[in-house]
Amino acid sequence: MLSRAQNEMLTRTGPGTAMGELFRRFWIPALLSRELPERDGPPMRVRLLGEDLIAFRDSEGRVGLVDSRCPHRGASLFFGRNEECGIRCAYHGWKFDVNGSCVDLPTMPRGASGYEKLRSKVHLTAYPTREWGEFVWAFLGPPDAMPELPEMEFALLPPAHRFVAKKLQECNWAQAAEGGIDTAHFSFLHAPVAREEAALRDVIADMTKGYSARTMGQNQIRWMQNDGAPRYTVVKHDAGLLLGAARHADDGALYWRIAQYLLPNHGYAPGTARGENYHGQTWVPIDDENCWVYTYTWNPERPISEAERNSYKGGASIHAEVDANWKPLRNRENEYMLDRDMQKRENFTGIKGISEQDAAIQDSQGRIADRTREQLGPTDAGVVQFRRLMLQLARDLREGRAPEAARLPAAYRVRSGAIVAPGSLPFSEVMAERFGHELGRFDQEAAPPVPAREVAK
Ligand code: FES
Ligand SMILES: [Fe+2]
Repeated sequence: MLSRAQNEMLTRTGPGTAMGELFRRFWIPALLSRELPERDGPPMRVRLLGEDLIAFRDSEGRVGLVDSRCPHRGASLFFGRNEECGIRCAYHGWKFDVNGSCVDLPTMPRGASGYEKLRSKVHLTAYPTREWGEFVWAFLGPPDAMPELPEMEFALLPPAHRFVAKKLQECNWAQAAEGGIDTAHFSFLHAPVAREEAALRDVIADMTKGYSARTMGQNQIRWMQNDGAPRYTVVKHDAGLLLGAARHADDGALYWRIAQYLLPNHGYAPGTARGENYHGQTWVPIDDENCWVYTYTWNPERPISEAERNSYKGGASIHAEVDANWKPLRNRENEYMLDRDMQKRENFTGIKGISEQDAAIQDSQGRIADRTREQLGPTDAGVVQFRRLMLQLARDLREGRAPEAARLPAAYRVRSGAIVAPGSLPFSEVMAERFGHELGRFDQEAAPPVPAREVAK
């Protein structure tokens, strides 16, 4: 349970808010690279942390992310012309480059006295961008605090080894993020209702398309069905939180599902057995009542197959089935196409898709969940630690202490995943057994971010 003031602090990310300032100390995904496929193509509206921005790819392939309003008289640059290395306002032709500098001011004769003075004074707010892992990342914080990009594994790998997408979610970022941290819900929200082997087979095959249950198969579903009260171990590390949840498996063994939360807004899913695909999500506030969920799957050992890509596009695992604007087909407006018959016979919710089940239940907590009325129990340990950490970092920043994680890009080189281990094994040894490191670190070679001009066609 949080006080009203704490809930406000956790959930508000607009300019000047404590959490908003914390987010602005990290690189944040602003869009997918493929949303701006061509140089001098159409500009695009981007709402990010409550700020209305325009993104465009210039003639050299660089991505500009600028204030949506022209500094002349406030016309929207969405209507602007993206031409010759800059965006030109459609109202009176003032033109700006990706850095926000005014490069042409055609409402004054070039040689006129005062032209240069006005041109150099006029400035459009522009945020630095980098393309990395097929995302366009933006830094909305103070220029002298700009860190390196976080070395997340999906972005370090060659493109063939990853699949990235996004989906709109119509609620506050924090409750969506808490859904990724609270791995106890899998025993219910995502569970099939059948318990006989034969009936389970079809349901599981559908639920787990491209998901890790394929190898651990029906066992892991059974362990999750039978043990709805996993025991949590939470370990704080340089980039965030490591969250282990142990359920009873067979013969005294424990089935560990281990997630990672990476600051300020990335979560890695816990179900990956050795050799399988890894999955992650990044919750990016559009404003306080909506967020983009960036969803990514990667495999360090082999490329993602065509069949897997198609299953993810169709909404398998953490990915959603979306329309051309990245809005899930099963969404708030249509009650996620809840089917009560399916709920009786097949799965716990009557909703198709793990991602859609998550969205339905997180959205149902309200546009901004009211954490002053909750009653928390032992399986909420991860959620409690997440809130404590985020609130502490936001308060620290207010008092002048910047978040260290932003300055430690290599601390993001961690994995999440699942393993069955003897019941007596301490968590650190379970981690060593599954990942070769007690915090889940890996030693992938670092690849530098791809410069924008090499990405653009
Ligand atoms: S409002 Fe943009 S040039 Fe006048
Ligand atoms: Fe979930």
